[in-house]
Amino acid sequence: MKISKEELTFSILSSDDDLSGFSCCEKDLEGFLKYDALDSQKNRISVTHLVYWDKILVGFYTLISDSIEVRGIQEDDGIRGYPYSRYPALKIARLATDDRFKKRNIGKNMLLKILVTAINLSHHVGCRILTVDVKPGSFGFYEKYGFTRTIRKQSDSIPMYRDFHRALIEQS
Ligand SMILES: CC(C)(COP(=O)(O)OP(=O)(O)OC[C@H]1O[C@@H](n2cnc3c(N)ncnc32)[C@H](O)[C@@H]1OP(=O)(O)O)[C@@H](O)C(=O)NCCC(=O)NCCS
Repeated sequence: MKISKEELTFSILSSDDDLSGFSCCEKDLEGFLKYDALDSQKNRISVTHLVYWDKILVGFYTLISDSIEVRGIQEDDGIRGYPYSRYPALKIARLATDDRFKKRNIGKNMLLKILVTAINLSHHVGCRILTVDVKPGSFGFYEKYGFTRTIRKQSDSIPMYRDFHRALIEQS
């Protein structure tokens, strides 16, 4: 059964959180959460957000500041609308749903929360684009929510972006 955003509690990782029960098929993501995320946060490199459902840790995402070069933006996305060579961005550095809770809208709700965070942030500091480097298996998930592949050399992950400013203007 799907889980709505009203049923979820979002909080910022702290040393009080018990991460031991969290399990994800992508072991590098699970390992980051359990062993590196708090240190990274203490050093102001990243901030990790936890998602609880009924006191169970069901997902997490990690955010960092970023920027995107305009030459990485797809031309059919209207390159003429980008007069600067680089744009400020918020990067989804990590995002994962616990294996037991996949396909229940946790990922979708995390993306929506990230979008709200980015919009709020943009009221205080320039921020217009969401970026993420996705694993091939998750490409369809991000594409479904409006992310586009960046024009850049391929590596193990696929760089993607979403210009939420443009989307908001088109909607209004
Ligand atoms: C990708 C991931 C975050 C999706 O999380 P999730 O909680 O299962 O996703 P949701 O239940 O919110 O899915 C929302 C929608 O996206 C679709 N979707 C989910 N994963 C998908 C995928 N890999 N490819 C295509 N569509 C996908 C769902 O079918 C659902 O669509 P629907 O509403 O039409 O049924 C999750 O599979 C995961 O943690 N993967 C491993 C970690 C990872 O690769 N993270 C990304 C790199 S940072």
